Amino acid sequence: MAERQIKIGIAGFGGVGENIAKDIIKQKDIKLEGVADPDEAKRRRAEEIYGIKTYADYRKLCENKEIEIIYNATPNFMHSEVAINGLRSGKHVFSEKPFAITKEEIAAMLKAEKESGRYLQIDFEMRYSLLPKRVKELIDAGEIGEPKNILFNHFCGGQGFEKEKTWRAKIENIGGYYIEEGCHRLDIFRYYMGEDIKEVVAIPAPQLRGPDGWHRAYREPAATLCFFPGEKLANLVTIQHRAVYFAPPGMENELGHEYNVSVVGSDGSLYVNFWKGTILLMDFSGPGGKTCLKRMESYPGLDLNILHHNSCGFFRDFVYRMRDGKPPFFSAFDSWKTMASVFACEESFKKGGERVKVDYTLPQV
Ligand SMILES: NC(=O)c1ccc[n+]([C@@H]2O[C@H](COP(=O)([O-])OP(=O)(O)OC[C@H]3O[C@@H](n4cnc5c(N)ncnc54)[C@H](O)[C@@H]3O)[C@@H](O)[C@H]2O)c1
Repeated sequence: MAERQIKIGIAGFGGVGENIAKDIIKQKDIKLEGVADPDEAKRRRAEEIYGIKTYADYRKLCENKEIEIIYNATPNFMHSEVAINGLRSGKHVFSEKPFAITKEEIAAMLKAEKESGRYLQIDFEMRYSLLPKRVKELIDAGEIGEPKNILFNHFCGGQGFEKEKTWRAKIENIGGYYIEEGCHRLDIFRYYMGEDIKEVVAIPAPQLRGPDGWHRAYREPAATLCFFPGEKLANLVTIQHRAVYFAPPGMENELGHEYNVSVVGSDGSLYVNFWKGTILLMDFSGPGGKTCLKRMESYPGLDLNILHHNSCGFFRDFVYRMRDGKPPFFSAFDSWKTMASVFACEESFKKGGERVKVDYTLPQV
């Protein structure tokens, strides 16, 4: 028997919104009922190229009774308002990262989720993407024993935001480096360790600050240390080599980031090269306990979006879960715990790398 078709709406028809729309249009069991964007040119694009019904005001999209799920692809500073409105209109909401810019906004979103009886899912899509998910499976299967130490090298691209005339040109619209970008990596640290972060140290690299002080600030952190219970440690190293400037046209987003990750456990370790699509698994069976290659897993020829940036697949997963009455892949409350660590990093970063305790207290709203 054919499954029931589920209708969705997209708020924000920019880079992310259009990418999702292109994917949804190809699906038989999901219908894109409408998009909302205050930008007239974006609305015209949605209508003329894709034949989608549009709204200038996202609240009208939320009023559409046919729509069951809203994809919130608006700028960071709008996430909270749009998500709360969607939930209160009786929709499930899939909301882009970051969760929101402040703790108060997040507390209000979680409250709206609880009161509405609908689900809120934050797009920390790395957890769902092929390589990071495979690493989690390997850890859970005991391949490296208990994870103790993570090193995440992030070669950060970015699109030269300082030159953009969009909302991203103002740091207050983004929230900060950790809120905008570091949140993905801290989420992966928590996912792999299976525990919450206790304390952080976020060390800035002030030599990369732009002449007017702010514009590169959200990409400038050099090193971030996340302390877990039991002296377990995760390190994030951020280097700006700006691969994006050398990327072929149309591939700036895919090539704008490059990662490699090592996870060392009590019985072995693994190394993931995201760009090559390979995972090396090691144990300590060499002479004198030396590290030895156990095997390599390779995922050649796959789109980088599938390997580590699969928002489209993650959104479809959410849609089917909602249709089938199942809970989301992970809860919004869990994503709040990642954001609590993110806010601690922002604080440490501002204090020049002071050690900061993560505060998991949600403000009263
Ligand atoms: N999960 C990821 O890895 C990932 C990747 C890229 C971007 N993002 C997030 O997705 C969001 C959108 O990013 P983008 O790159 O598409 O930005 P964008 O600027 O290309 O698109 C944002 C769109 O939202 C529209 N908008 C502004 N105010 C609105 C409102 N009140 N109602 C409806 N639409 C409104 C803008 O006109 C624009 O078209 C951001 O929060 C960003 O952090 C997530």
